[in-house]
Amino acid sequence: MASRPDGPRSPWDGRRVVLGVSGGIAAYKVVQVARDLTLLGCVVDVVMTRAATEFVRPLSFEGVTGRPCLTDPFSAEGAAVHVRLGRDADVVCVAPATADLLARAVHGRADDLLTTTLLATEAPVLLCPAMNHRMWAHPQVQDNASRCRALGYELVGPDDGRLAAGEGSGPGRLVEPETIVAHVGRALGSSGPLAGRHVVVTAGPTREAVDPVRFVGNRSSGRMGFALAESAWLAGAEVTLVTGPSALPDPPGVHTVRVESAIDMLDAVRDPVSRADVTIYAAAVSDFRPVDVAAGKIKRARTGPSLELELTANPDIARETRSVRRPKSVAVGFALETDDLLANARRKLESKGFDLLVANDATDPMAGFEVETNRVTLLHNDGTDEALPLLSKQDVADRVVERAAALLATADGGKA
Ligand code: C5P
Repeated sequence: MASRPDGPRSPWDGRRVVLGVSGGIAAYKVVQVARDLTLLGCVVDVVMTRAATEFVRPLSFEGVTGRPCLTDPFSAEGAAVHVRLGRDADVVCVAPATADLLARAVHGRADDLLTTTLLATEAPVLLCPAMNHRMWAHPQVQDNASRCRALGYELVGPDDGRLAAGEGSGPGRLVEPETIVAHVGRALGSSGPLAGRHVVVTAGPTREAVDPVRFVGNRSSGRMGFALAESAWLAGAEVTLVTGPSALPDPPGVHTVRVESAIDMLDAVRDPVSRADVTIYAAAVSDFRPVDVAAGKIKRARTGPSLELELTANPDIARETRSVRRPKSVAVGFALETDDLLANARRKLESKGFDLLVANDATDPMAGFEVETNRVTLLHNDGTDEALPLLSKQDVADRVVERAAALLATADGGKA
């Protein structure tokens, strides 16, 4: 997922984040986290341990947050600064969380402003460990990590990858800044409109093999579906994303299943759809697949100047899974049309049993495949339409998820 420091946006907007920084080399990456959270509309109070100030100067954090960086429990900010920070925080996130920080958190130490604030808060606490891979693997650190989880702290990472100082690679790396930002958003949205709900999203293109190296496919990048998965996760849902081949990385927190063909996608979605509260069919499924897949690479020398491929229709995943969808669950579809957009889209909404359909015009250069933006009309099953302005795909995703959550709440209200 890309971070989106491009303006205030729910769930970050207007929320208070205490960003704790302990003393590890990865502290330099957390300046970016402070900046991105601030640009997303958070009020960020950075609290550094003394060791952290050896790696990054408080001034760097002050420059990006526009607020004083706190290091001293007995500062001019007042003796009870930890009480104010802990009480007012909507979330506390510590990045990097060193081995020492984990140990002090486990023992309830209050020997600096950061650990004292951890004790003085009822807000969700995220700890993002980062250290050398041998330190992370040490049984004492592993034990402390488990105890932190048992205390209700959420551990984010560490990642497995290249470590500092030529130490090769292994688990111990700080998760990327955008992942930290995303997890802060999730913690802030944990009581969001989809909290405790299960959402399934299909995304991307499908590839239908012609031979071992060639396929029939389409230009879908997966961006719209990935954005929907992320939005639903930020709104509190447990999310399963079933995607065809896409260059995008797995969205944080989302259970991502990667498939190739339409038939693979149908197999992979049946079970999650049967448990889903909301299913969003955003995949651009290939309508046809070759009848025969050649066992070896098709050679031009053998086919001559032309090649005939016989194609057969793929299953329609939305239709095929209609019968397994739970009663009162919400189904959202997409339609990309070149003509008679609304009439064709409404027919699709009805024939595939969608509650909401997101329609876009394939001839609009700012919408559809391979662009960051989308201009869509939302068609509801009560016959109403809602044309949205040109938006980023992430903003479209937020609106779609918001509407799906509202439909789900109405359906549940009807049941109660
Ligand atoms: O391709 P079409 O315009 O019919 O797609 C409309 C909707 O149906 C989309 O939500 C798409 O994800 C879904 N679909 C599907 N399986 C297919 C074709 C489309 O789930 N084989």
